[in-house]
Amino acid sequence: MNVIPSTWLQGAREAPLAYASVILAVAVLFFSLYKLTTRTDIPYIRNLPEIPGALPIVGHLLQLGDDHASVCEKWWRQYGHSVFQIRLGNTRAVVVSSFDDCKKILLKNSQALIDRPTLYTFHGIISSTQGFTIGSSPWDDSCRNKRKAASTTLSKSMMKNYSQMFDVESYCIIRDMFRDSKGGEIEVSMRPYIQRYALNTTLTLCYGIRMDEVYDTLLREILHVGSAISLLRSASENYQDYIPILRYMPNNEKNARSKELRDRRDAYLDLLLNKVREMIKKGTDKPCISAAILKDEETRLTGVEVGSICLSLVSGGFETIPGTLVSCIGSLSTPEGQIFQDRAYADIKRHYPNFQESWGKDFGEEKVPYLNAIVKEAGRYYTVSNMSLPRKTVSDVQWEGAVIPKGTMVLINAQAANHDVDHFGPDAGTYNPERWLNNPSSSPTEKEVPGISHHSFGAGSRSCPGSLIATKLIYSALFRLLSLYKVVASEEQPPNTDYVDYNAQKSALVAIPRDFRVRLVRRDEMELRDGGDDVVRSVLVEAEERTKGFYKE
Ligand code: HEM
Repeated sequence: MNVIPSTWLQGAREAPLAYASVILAVAVLFFSLYKLTTRTDIPYIRNLPEIPGALPIVGHLLQLGDDHASVCEKWWRQYGHSVFQIRLGNTRAVVVSSFDDCKKILLKNSQALIDRPTLYTFHGIISSTQGFTIGSSPWDDSCRNKRKAASTTLSKSMMKNYSQMFDVESYCIIRDMFRDSKGGEIEVSMRPYIQRYALNTTLTLCYGIRMDEVYDTLLREILHVGSAISLLRSASENYQDYIPILRYMPNNEKNARSKELRDRRDAYLDLLLNKVREMIKKGTDKPCISAAILKDEETRLTGVEVGSICLSLVSGGFETIPGTLVSCIGSLSTPEGQIFQDRAYADIKRHYPNFQESWGKDFGEEKVPYLNAIVKEAGRYYTVSNMSLPRKTVSDVQWEGAVIPKGTMVLINAQAANHDVDHFGPDAGTYNPERWLNNPSSSPTEKEVPGISHHSFGAGSRSCPGSLIATKLIYSALFRLLSLYKVVASEEQPPNTDYVDYNAQKSALVAIPRDFRVRLVRRDEMELRDGGDDVVRSVLVEAEERTKGFYKE
């Protein structure tokens, strides 16, 4: 079959030069169009593998779908490269996957990877009024000061100042679960209690304010708006960050939604600050970051910087801690997990023979090895921030024959690193706290781990300054819960414990665990039946008495 029309052939024979020019012009046009639609902020990086199949304009965005961490984890094993380059629309990014490579790139190039990229939706619209949170700030003097102040507030030496806060907040979880489960008769969902726990902690640090009700309107508004904003930070939800033309679409819903959320966030941040002002006037304010600055005790930071620190702390913990702790309780509530609970309970009693007294005062000491192992494994297995927070290079990075240029986005696949079978062994995909212990079944001790245990808190210059307080909060809640109750998964609504599928919202920056229910079985049930002490009631009565004056306005 002849595919070229005969008139063309005749024309080409009569005017070959004109025809050649047209063909050349079309070729140049296609080539220029291809170049234009595949152009990236940073040109192709030589000697660094690129994942095949990128399309003009979108690059790899469509292949990546909703769940970037899992797709990149699959690419690592499929193509055999732990470090590779991809295109997110017009942005070139380097993805790092294995445990050792993530550690090497973050620790050996700590200064070169100190920056964070800025994104159109989050930085240009949402953050236009309150400034950037620390985790989204590019590196400059202001970011250095904010990070330093946050790190001081969250440092080990400060933890003792927060003992009342740890006490009242972890007590309130048990108090309300005891009430709502009608002493164990009714199955409960853990998440709302843990959300209040995490949010109250950072609100107390920042504003000296806490909310007692799990369904307090302000508390739910902060959680709702915070979650919605975190969704607007993820790459899979925001193609307009990487495909600029989408920003100019008429009736841009993303922009309208971002502005609405920004206004709602501004409203509650103002409300909180005004409450602190009122408390200062009345002399009822509690020691906290914003009261210190409003009273001008801290002079090096500007008002905007203090607002940004408070916002960073509030948004740093309210989803990450519930994501980790709730999912951990889910794993513990399964039949296999109940064995871990029994061993943790035995270990608590081994360390605190007079446990009733310790429930009130030693709950946050982090001295029970089995509990420490449960917490560490929860951090590893449930990598709630599965692609960590994006980094950007401030200088060239030499990487095995390639030069990653200054200004390149670097994505750490923490989920892949945390489930790397070459590092954690063939059971890397299983929740098993005993991997961190010697003699797990009797008198366990913690194994020495040189360097970082897992990648959930990041590493190097921009690692999570909240890791200490997060670990203490998770430990304290588990100490109080597991020493009083055995947590048993609901048969009708059991937890999903798959390390990818437990997450109901794959495109969010921080995982949102699927809802599940548990039954609470009292540890003192037998003793109680035999006429023994009502341990639960007595620790709760003592706690109520002890904490009743804490953080009252
Ligand atoms: C289980 C709980 C938590 C997890 C899994 C977590 C995870 C992370 C990760 C992955 C990063 C980025 C690290 C990197 O780039 O290397 C980060 C940064 C950060 N986190 Fe956390 N976090 C948690 C709790 C908290 C808490 C409770 C706070 C504050 C009270 C907090 C405040 C921050 C801040 C301010 C940054 C930004 C640091 C910077 O960019 O310099 N985080 N976190």
